[in-house]
Amino acid sequence: MFYGGEVFYGGQQKTLIGATNPEEEYIELITKDYSFQEAFDALDRIDWDFKDFTTQYLTHTFHSYPARFIPQIPLTFIKLFTKEKEIVLDPMCGSGTTLVEAFLNNRHSIGNDLNPLATLITKVKTTLISEDEFRYLDKRLSVMKHYLDLDYGRINERINNLPSRKISKIFNRVIISKLESIRETLLEIREEGYNDLFDFGRVALSSAIWSLVENGGGIDIDMIFLKKVKSMQNEIMEMNRIIKVIPTVKVICGDSRKLDVDTNLTDLIITSPPYVNALDYYRVHMYNMLWLGMDFDLFRKHEIGGHSHFINNRFRLLSEYLGDMLRSLIEMNRVLKKNKLCVIVVGNSSLEYELIESHKFFAEMGEKIGFKPLRTIFRNIDITKKYSSTDIGKINDEYILIMQKINDAQVTAKNDNFISDIVREEMIKFRERIKEHQGTSIKGRKPTRERLLKNVDKINEAIEKIPEDTRIKE
Ligand SMILES: C[S@@+](CC[C@H](N)C(=O)[O-])C[C@H]1O[C@@H](n2cnc3c(N)ncnc32)[C@H](O)[C@@H]1O
Repeated sequence: MFYGGEVFYGGQQKTLIGATNPEEEYIELITKDYSFQEAFDALDRIDWDFKDFTTQYLTHTFHSYPARFIPQIPLTFIKLFTKEKEIVLDPMCGSGTTLVEAFLNNRHSIGNDLNPLATLITKVKTTLISEDEFRYLDKRLSVMKHYLDLDYGRINERINNLPSRKISKIFNRVIISKLESIRETLLEIREEGYNDLFDFGRVALSSAIWSLVENGGGIDIDMIFLKKVKSMQNEIMEMNRIIKVIPTVKVICGDSRKLDVDTNLTDLIITSPPYVNALDYYRVHMYNMLWLGMDFDLFRKHEIGGHSHFINNRFRLLSEYLGDMLRSLIEMNRVLKKNKLCVIVVGNSSLEYELIESHKFFAEMGEKIGFKPLRTIFRNIDITKKYSSTDIGKINDEYILIMQKINDAQVTAKNDNFISDIVREEMIKFRERIKEHQGTSIKGRKPTRERLLKNVDKINEAIEKIPEDTRIKE
């Protein structure tokens, strides 16, 4: 953010007198006032790889999240295509990167995600907490520290009280006892009326559990938790200092295929949907959700891009995914104001060695429902920020699809026949394409001729099943 010659960026306030490095040149570029066309032209002057740029600052540091995007992507579109106080929506907001950038830049924001852990993280990253409240938290946690070891005597009682019995099989008894002390303290904090502190503490707890699951070990889990609380406090205190006007933030735990958002409300949509066949978020976050007592059944059932079904015919995952994404696109069209931008960030994936270029499907489907694809930007992902999926390997690059809403969609997201028809067209085109250009998966492997024939058969079967596979599960 520029305040006169001052810029706030990457967690620091700087005075910028002439840019001296690529990061400062970028800041200078996105901070000017532009017409729509000028802003659009400015996109060409950005190096989208953002190599070595600062991406971990302020509340972005709170919690890991697979396949999150770097803050510069939403920031660029927020700065270039919205004004202060306008409304930015991310309908699959994950850990809330878009909302944090909107918050820092005085834009109102709405974040939606079906993963209850995602919406908790997003809420906490965009909620300021006063110094007085933090003093109260410090006091409560010092009392807790005092009792941590004594409380170990209550382990059997604790195991009976766990939010889910499955947990006792995953962690050892010392860890369970410590985590339970923390959880109970947080529950008491909520009973005393400190809801924001309760959520804040739950994110710190979840982040500590994440490091336990990812890095192993964990007898010192209480220390990891307390360290996390301290660093999160410092970031929020810094936000308190920086933010002069607090924009509104609405976080919804809901399905992007039926958004709880008013029609023609938002000035920009920026989002990164799940990839097809990459990962199941509900599995990745299962331990965290179990500890936090979250019910993830609804999420498991309606998660887009999940891949633990249709094992015998992976192409059915594709038609299901396209149907889900088409419904989500129709909803995005409904809530976006006319002529405004819908920006979708997605990488390629693969199924049975065939390349899936999701951004091309989205652009084609978008055109059928009132969007005009304006441009697709290719970007390399920084080596330190790549993420891997066992099925599709390392994701090295991604695409930023920019579409403009030209018209209202003439259908609703509930129209099963329309969804089936469009998905069928896309699947037929896909089948013909792979016959012509025998695909290469993003791992670089080419299917054999024999495999290609098998794949074509499987795609034909998937096409037959489209009405069944694209229906929303009850
Ligand atoms: C690639 S992640 C988004 C990451 C986000 N851009 C960030 O920076 O943290 C995709 C998100 O889509 C969410 N998702 C999956 N199915 C959904 C659905 N039916 N409705 C809403 N969100 C869904 C997942 O929970 C996940 O958070």
